[in-house]
Amino acid sequence: MSDDDQQLRVSKIRNGTVIDHIAGGQALNVLAILGIDGTSGDSVSVAMNMPSDRLGHKDVVKVEGRELSQNEVDVLSLIAPAATINIIRDYEVVEKRRVERPSVVEGVLECPNHNCITTENEPVDSRFAVGDDGVRCEYCDTIIRDDLPAHILAE
Ligand code: CTP
Ligand code: ZN
Repeated sequence: MSDDDQQLRVSKIRNGTVIDHIAGGQALNVLAILGIDGTSGDSVSVAMNMPSDRLGHKDVVKVEGRELSQNEVDVLSLIAPAATINIIRDYEVVEKRRVERPSVVEGVLECPNHNCITTENEPVDSRFAVGDDGVRCEYCDTIIRDDLPAHILAE
């Protein structure tokens, strides 16, 4: 069965964003990055571990009535580098973007170093440089290698 037949399991959306080709098992982390916990009332569909020709298994997240900001797409790229962002208007895919790894992510992750200036009560946004094996705080050089979603700043 092709990717498309499988996706008929989750209905098409009218307006919003479809994040496709997420590595299998990462959908809940994608929701965490987008700050989606079900309380806002937006319709969200999640399909996990769908067979995919390209990835073996993939997750798909569909968010009704919302188009993603560049900041959100940047962090998504760290955990879902193969993702495709589809902007849907009136049921049509009007834009299809591949995510790109940014060189810096700003104001999205929390530095794990409690003495870092970005975690004190200072108006300093966090800034992490993106490397091959993790992200590095530009203020204190602390490196986050694993479990990026656990370091996402609460909104
Ligand atoms: N989609 C949706 N609602 C719509 C239109 C599309 O949920 N109104 C979903 C499709 O199910 C698919 C994704 O958006 O998961 C991209 O749609 P489309 O470009 O039509 O699919 P493909 O050509 O298979 O995409 P790709 O080449 O990126 O795999
Ligand atoms: Zn730091």
